[in-house]
Amino acid sequence: MLTEYGGILNENMETSKKHMDLEAQYGARNYAPIPVVISKAKGIWVWDPEGKKYMDCLAAYSAVNQGHLHPKIIKAMKQQSKKLTLTSRAFYNDRLGRYLKKLCEVTGFEVALPMNTGAEAVETGIKIARRWGYRVKKVEQDKAEIITAHNNFHGRTTTITGFSTDENARADYGAFTPGFKHIPFDDTKALEEAITKNTVAFLVEPIQGEAGVIIPSEGYLKKVREICSKHNVLLITDEIQTGFCRTGKMFCFEHDNIKPDILLLGKALGGGVFPVSAAVTRKDIMDVITPGSHGSTFGGNPLGCAIAEASLDVHIEENLAERSAELGEYFLKKIKEIDSKHFKEVRGKGLFIAIELKKSAGKARKYTEALKEKGLLAKETHDYTIRLAPPLVIKKEEIDMALDMLRDVFSE
Ligand SMILES: Cc1ncc(COP(=O)(O)O)c(C=O)c1O
Repeated sequence: MLTEYGGILNENMETSKKHMDLEAQYGARNYAPIPVVISKAKGIWVWDPEGKKYMDCLAAYSAVNQGHLHPKIIKAMKQQSKKLTLTSRAFYNDRLGRYLKKLCEVTGFEVALPMNTGAEAVETGIKIARRWGYRVKKVEQDKAEIITAHNNFHGRTTTITGFSTDENARADYGAFTPGFKHIPFDDTKALEEAITKNTVAFLVEPIQGEAGVIIPSEGYLKKVREICSKHNVLLITDEIQTGFCRTGKMFCFEHDNIKPDILLLGKALGGGVFPVSAAVTRKDIMDVITPGSHGSTFGGNPLGCAIAEASLDVHIEENLAERSAELGEYFLKKIKEIDSKHFKEVRGKGLFIAIELKKSAGKARKYTEALKEKGLLAKETHDYTIRLAPPLVIKKEEIDMALDMLRDVFSE
């Protein structure tokens, strides 16, 4: 049978083409994947059904910081799945409390609200901030404002999409939730000017991941912290992508020696195994959340808790923050040394690196596809930027292999 996309479907499913054709035929076209099918993975390596091996330099958008199928995380998942997986929050379970304790200890916050996906953690942060605004700051009903940054990426719900500045993400999904404002990223003057008596929070990524690993100027977050404190505005940092050692510290806000009021977490919290997210904050802020006012059937499920506990342990036991800082510095320096006429800028913090191409190089997609042919999986973000964010368990020799592949593609 010939599919709409030209691929042949037959009984034998074991070829990449057939898997891609099935997705194309039966799936919504909300992604444009690099044409590679992954059927097996271990650590930083993945294999297609034909047995070709690739280095994963995306790590599921930083959700696989600990490497694919980390033995400790898989063990925790297997053990818990034999005992108890889901209770809902109608009842207590014997994993949630100890997981929340560990999460609070690791993050340095007092209380956490467990959810599943990153977008849900963001929605949770928004709800906490609005309630705090009305009940503590005494903002007039329905007037609460949250300030966000241009080129933000916080997820895909309609509320979050509503305050995105990416036309492709927003077009024809309105009407949107009111109460959000935009200011340029890395502009503290604009932040101070945008604050009104109704401002309840500033929601920001410490480094904008999806926008192309956009790193603000030195001291940005510190100044933001000062401004938010001065005006009694909550600082919400979305560390769903930058958190858990990606940038060379457990959390990116540590680079500025500050503490946000609300920290949003997801992705690597679930160890690349299970969607686990959370909003963590102080008790006096979280107290605005009361029974029945927020929740999720799967949020705080025992299976996710066991996995997330193991995931937190692995980050600490394997010194992933130090590894990310050291190896990231090496990787970044060596990429900068590649003599390519196509590079506009190479930037990064820890193992969170972007190569921005000159317009004359043509769109990034042809390079990510060429890298795939060489055996390196990376993904373009927007048209001209390639993000390199491998699992943090990558070894120096493996970075050298990645560098060889990058050299091959960019000096060709
Ligand atoms: C900074 C940030 N926030 C939120 C999200 C949304 O997370 P999820 O896709 O799990 O909903 C992402 C996902 O890429 C992200 O990078």
